[in-house]
Amino acid sequence: MAKKPKFQSPTGMHDILPKDQRYYQRIYNIVSDVADFYGFGKIDTPVVEQAELFSKGIGLATDIVKKQMYTLKTRRGDFLALRPEWTAPIVRAYIEKGMQDQPQPLKLWYFGPCYRYERPQAGRYRQFWQFGFEVFGEVNPVIDAQIIQIFYNILRELKLKNLIVEINSIGDSQCRPYYKKLLSNYFRSREISLCVDCKRRLRENVLRVLDCKEEKCQPIKADAPQILDHLCEECRLHFKEVLEFLDEIEIPYNLNPYLVRGLDYYTKTVFEIFPERICEEEGLKNALAGGPARQRPEPQALAGGGRYDKLVKLLGGRETSACGAAAGIERIIGLMKSRDIKFPKGFEVQVFLAQLGNLAKRKSLKLLGDFRKAKIKVAESFGRDSLKAQLNRADRIGVKYTLILGQKEALEGTIIIRDMKTGKQEIVKLDKVVEEMKGRLKK
Ligand code: HAM
Repeated sequence: MAKKPKFQSPTGMHDILPKDQRYYQRIYNIVSDVADFYGFGKIDTPVVEQAELFSKGIGLATDIVKKQMYTLKTRRGDFLALRPEWTAPIVRAYIEKGMQDQPQPLKLWYFGPCYRYERPQAGRYRQFWQFGFEVFGEVNPVIDAQIIQIFYNILRELKLKNLIVEINSIGDSQCRPYYKKLLSNYFRSREISLCVDCKRRLRENVLRVLDCKEEKCQPIKADAPQILDHLCEECRLHFKEVLEFLDEIEIPYNLNPYLVRGLDYYTKTVFEIFPERICEEEGLKNALAGGPARQRPEPQALAGGGRYDKLVKLLGGRETSACGAAAGIERIIGLMKSRDIKFPKGFEVQVFLAQLGNLAKRKSLKLLGDFRKAKIKVAESFGRDSLKAQLNRADRIGVKYTLILGQKEALEGTIIIRDMKTGKQEIVKLDKVVEEMKGRLKK
């Protein structure tokens, strides 16, 4: 067995190797196209922020703040945290950079890494990338629906089918306190049967009990009062309209009364997008075919978000309604790979440049630059000096033509064009070869 290298990437954090960069690039391209279309401006914020921004913004009792932040003290004693998410930093920038005074709604998008000290497993990492969209200064429920539509469409454009939007409303400061009281009373009278974590959640934030996945808590949850029955008129109407918009644009959704999200800043609409459980069907098919029935993995959200009408004020700005969401890029890539999603064929390399000798190598450098200007992709192998090795490589890449520039050609200002299929070779002037290849490739 190969010896483990002395240095390895930190637990739960990964290199993004060249073979995977194209996934990130493809997602980036689609996201930035969509952002452009809908009028979102791109924002980048520092990877670190004051830790208090997150404890205040996301909530002291949340798992993210209690257990998952990477924090550090600077030499001067500032207490900073690697960003576990983007929303609080963006709200900080929105307030600090006077974006409240610009015409509203103000729309921002982002793409970059986040850090959470989680228990690593497939689809759950300590460094993971998110892209996200945030809209400030718009109360209308059409924005909630549009945010969902944007994420849904991006995932569809990445060829991810069978998606389901789980949606709920968690009310606002008018109706949620009363509902929480009801819920507390309900769970408190059944506390003895709850799991250890839920006993703690009951004291810290009773809504989180609804999020529990423990088997023993499920029957108790099932009979708990549901927030949708206790929304105030304003929240009820808002949610009704969001659902009507979703119906209108034919986005499939599932009303999920247990969806409360792991961050405290939400008001009214919350949602998550999941891949539908086709893995369950696959497991069943597998079992029917005599194979082992695969254990159903816990479903992981590809994206999540909602409305957060109180956060801007909480972090020191003027009262401003807001709505947004973020998606996990590794999870999207994992799903693309498991569903064997092919990329549209990119720009293929059709020409290989082989060179022999120093003078030829020098001329090749300039020639490559000329091909780049003409937008013709050319592969080369400067490290190999033997013509045979270079032609072998050209064969492996599967190019149509190989250009051969030897010592003699370099001196004469010519170059050989070899048709790789027929083996036919022709000599042309070196300063005409780009035009010549343009013509040939067009055919
Ligand atoms: P979140 O649900 O914590 O929300 O994260 C959004 C997405 O990031 C998740 O749906 C998931 O795909 C991905 N994700 C989260 N944690 C991990 C992890 N440890 N490893 C891999 N992927 C992960 C937020 O972050 C909110 N800021 C979203 C938002 C924006 N709400 C309003 N605006």
